[in-house]
Amino acid sequence: MPDQTLQNQVDTYLETRLLSDDPVLDETLDRQNAAGLPPMAVSPLQGAFLQIIAKSIGARRILELGTFAGYSTIWLARALPEDGKLITLELQHVNAELAQTNINEAGLSHLIEIRRGEAEKQMNIMINDGVPPFDLIFMDSDKINYPIYLEQVIDLSRPGTLIIADNVIRDGRVLDDSGKDPSIRGVRRFLDLLKSHPRLETTALQTVGSKGYDGFALMLVK
Ligand code: DHB
Ligand code: MG
Repeated sequence: MPDQTLQNQVDTYLETRLLSDDPVLDETLDRQNAAGLPPMAVSPLQGAFLQIIAKSIGARRILELGTFAGYSTIWLARALPEDGKLITLELQHVNAELAQTNINEAGLSHLIEIRRGEAEKQMNIMINDGVPPFDLIFMDSDKINYPIYLEQVIDLSRPGTLIIADNVIRDGRVLDDSGKDPSIRGVRRFLDLLKSHPRLETTALQTVGSKGYDGFALMLVK
């Protein structure tokens, strides 16, 4: 088993060496914890990773599935130019309210739109509306439906869009082929769809740190 204590210490070490103090992001996590929500947000270093990716590809339009308390949303939106746009989808009313507070406090409300409701429905609306394609898509909502969301996010993409999916390793439980855990079943079905997908070039990275042992799948739309 990976040594979680050591990984936490290294994450703290890297955070103190590499990341600036950020009261806005600290308060976002404080509000998330005060609301009794579990620590499901990405880690600070992962947030910075997402922001660097978004800046590197010059993202102007970002889609996020699963706003939660808005922590990754804020990291991603800070990568946007002043005329950029981030649409983030959230099913839970409580999360969306909290995220809106966090986004307002971060001074990012002009860049971010939270759309409430089921991600599948919200994406169908956007597909039917013919919204312009997104440059970066961060999948971080319910893992059960990742296979359904895959075709939808591709429909909302253009050649060159980068899609990143969170939590595809889950302490190695991705290897569990018993079908008992619906989230693992969803992730496994999702990963099965990637290799032979005619529209995608794909890889996955395992990660360790303060969020335990997990990983991202990366998909480049052809
Ligand atoms: C869970 C979901 C997440 O998106 C995450 O990053 C960590 C955990 C969860 O459902 O437990
Ligand atoms: Mg996640």
